[in-house]
Amino acid sequence: MSVVSVRSVRKAFGGHVVLHDVNLDVTEGSVTTLIGPSGSGKTTLLRCLNGLALPDAGIVRVNDVTIDYGAKPSREARKALAAQSGMVFQAHHLFPHRTALENVIEGPVYVQKEPVAQARERGMALLAQVGLAEKADSYPSQLSGGQQQRVGIARALALRPTLMLFDEPTSALDPETVGDVLTVLRDLAEQGWTMVVVTHEIRFAEQVADHVAFLDGGVIVEEGPPAQVLGDPTEPRTRRFLRRVLDPLADGREEQA
Ligand SMILES: Nc1ncnc2c1ncn2[C@@H]1O[C@H](COP(=O)(O)OP(=O)(O)OP(=O)(O)O)[C@@H](O)[C@H]1O
Ligand SMILES: [Mg+2]
Repeated sequence: MSVVSVRSVRKAFGGHVVLHDVNLDVTEGSVTTLIGPSGSGKTTLLRCLNGLALPDAGIVRVNDVTIDYGAKPSREARKALAAQSGMVFQAHHLFPHRTALENVIEGPVYVQKEPVAQARERGMALLAQVGLAEKADSYPSQLSGGQQQRVGIARALALRPTLMLFDEPTSALDPETVGDVLTVLRDLAEQGWTMVVVTHEIRFAEQVADHVAFLDGGVIVEEGPPAQVLGDPTEPRTRRFLRRVLDPLADGREEQA
């Protein structure tokens, strides 16, 4: 059973087409990574999955919520779509004057009207899950970037989404904290979360992803299991991109040669 189905999604900003008839399926409990050069449409595609970006045409389904952009979607439909997924951005947007635990329970308590005691109990379990039980009472300024990002993940999980979306969750972090965040993502994958992750961490994609989609110029140029797309890509564009990401100096050397 697929959790996500994207059909012929098209999105333009002004006259600039950013997604051309994109199709994507995400099966339940799988990890899909979106890779591709800057500006290829990865973030836009991710945002289409939770309604932060509105496609100009096409159909997006997440679980049992379907929006056909052949007509203008209703506010209710957009809210229903957004409620299906939790989103983690490049930079954590934590409330600076709230503790880690308060940040995690904010959505459940104020948006979903969960009783505070129950939300706190779940919030503590979620902080433990991301390895931060002992930081529950710390404020964001007292946490490292990687710790803040893990609080952000716990906060997204607290809303009980059925799909987790990550947009380059480690790209703003100091190198030594990247591993902690990737470990949390790997744990979530092992627990069976359905996840779509935009990432430049090719090793992570190799080890954790079930499916890799390579975007270039608003098109999914190549997709499949990581061993194929990352290990033995058929498209020259994929090969060129991977060479650049894995060895940033490679192109310069080729040009000099
Ligand atoms: N709100 C917007 N208004 C106008 N153009 C936009 C907007 N959002 C994205 N774009 C354009 O759409 C294209 C795709 O952007 P997108 O952010 O999806 O790329 P990306 O693959 O996530 O890139 P990066 O790796 O740099 O994050 C880019 O050319 C970008 O400039
Ligand atoms: Mg992006």
